[in-house]
Formats: sequence, structure tokens, C-alpha cells
Amino acid sequence: MRLNAYLARAGIASRRGADDLIKAGRVLVNGEPGQLNTFVESRDRVTVDGTPVSLQRLTYLLLHKPAGVVTTARDPQGRPTVVDLVPKEPRVVPVGRLDADTTGVLLMTNDGPLAHRLAHPRYEIEKVYEAEVGGRPAEDVLRALREGVELEDGITAPAKVRRVGDHRIELTIHEGRNRQVKRMFEAVGHPVRSLHRSLYAGLTVQGLAPGKWRPLTRAEIQRLHS
Ligand code: URA
Repeated sequence: MRLNAYLARAGIASRRGADDLIKAGRVLVNGEPGQLNTFVESRDRVTVDGTPVSLQRLTYLLLHKPAGVVTTARDPQGRPTVVDLVPKEPRVVPVGRLDADTTGVLLMTNDGPLAHRLAHPRYEIEKVYEAEVGGRPAEDVLRALREGVELEDGITAPAKVRRVGDHRIELTIHEGRNRQVKRMFEAVGHPVRSLHRSLYAGLTVQGLAPGKWRPLTRAEIQRLHS
């Protein structure tokens, strides 16, 4: 892997921060100054300011995201973030994003390549949302949501839609556009009052209170990789 990615994975700095360390000559690989295009493997000896660097253990956590917490690593406005709710070491970051007022399943990991794949539309990761909406959506509204609704960034892909109550609709989608579920319901005239993600890539928050997290099991990690 590229030296800046290695340093980021080791929790030393962001990739850009790692580039600065490399340019400043503070990073040695097997005793030689590392370059921006240096590739390293696990057997290479990497030091920063003379201190050996080792890769962090790959970690996968499932957080039951509560409302009122933002899905970023650091919030310029100083609001609480999902990163504040999980252990600091090894450092994990959220896969994808939930709005501050959205609750439910949020995967967090330091496995960058896996996070990248899961977020890529090509892999069509299944996400299930339960939305409480204004008004009682009629059958033709549910059909429109199923078939695709026109949003400013294009028509949505076919979705599964199930009525759970007069004002509660379960929506299963594969896309992950920004504020997609809220925008879909807005487009059909039923604004979302509250939103919960009940499933992400086969993972649920069953047994986890809001704000609590657990490590993924080995079987769950294997399934995500396949
Ligand atoms: N769609 C939304 O509108 N908000 C979320 O948080 C997730 C999906």
C-alpha cells in the first residue's frame, strides 16, 4: 500500500497529513527517507521521527446511532459526533452518512478499502429505512416510490415499499444519495417526520440501545468482505 495510506491506517495522520510528514523527510522506510510514491508492505520497517509505526488492527463496529449526533469525524460547529460514541483506539470512521436526526444502523471501521466498496453504488448494498411521514400516503404514492421518483439529481432506482402503519412506511433502497429518503418523500408530498435505518448490509441494531455499539462478529465481517 502507498506510504501515506499506511500512515493513515496506522492512525498517525490523515493521508494529506501523512504526505506533509513524508515531504518533511520525517518518515523512514527501512532506514531510507520515504517518498510520496513509496509503496510499503507489512515486512517493511516504517518510522516517524524515529518511532516505529505499526498498522492498527482492522476494527469493525456497529453503532446504534442516536438522534442529535452528526456523522462526521469532526464537526466545525462542535456538535457531538458518532466518533465520540465509540472507543478512540483504534480510530474508526463511519461508512456513509446518516443525517443528524436519523437513527439506526451505522457501520464504523478503519478498513478503508471495505468502506469504499460498501459505499460504492456498484455493490448495491441493501438499506432499509422506516419513515414516519406527514399525512397518510395513498397506494398510488407508494407505487410512485416503488417505481422511482424524479429528484433533482435524477430518477430514483426501483425500491421496495411496505406500509407499516398509517404514517409509517418501510423503504428498501440500494442507492445512497444525500438525504435520499427524505427527498423521495418530499417529492411525493409526505415530508419525513422521523427516520430510522433498520438494516444496512444485513446488519440490524437488534439488542443495542441508541448510542450503544458492539464489535461485528467474525462471521459478519466475513460476509461483508464477500
Ligand atoms: N436518507 C435520508 O434522507 N437521510 C438519512 O439519514 C439517510 C437516508
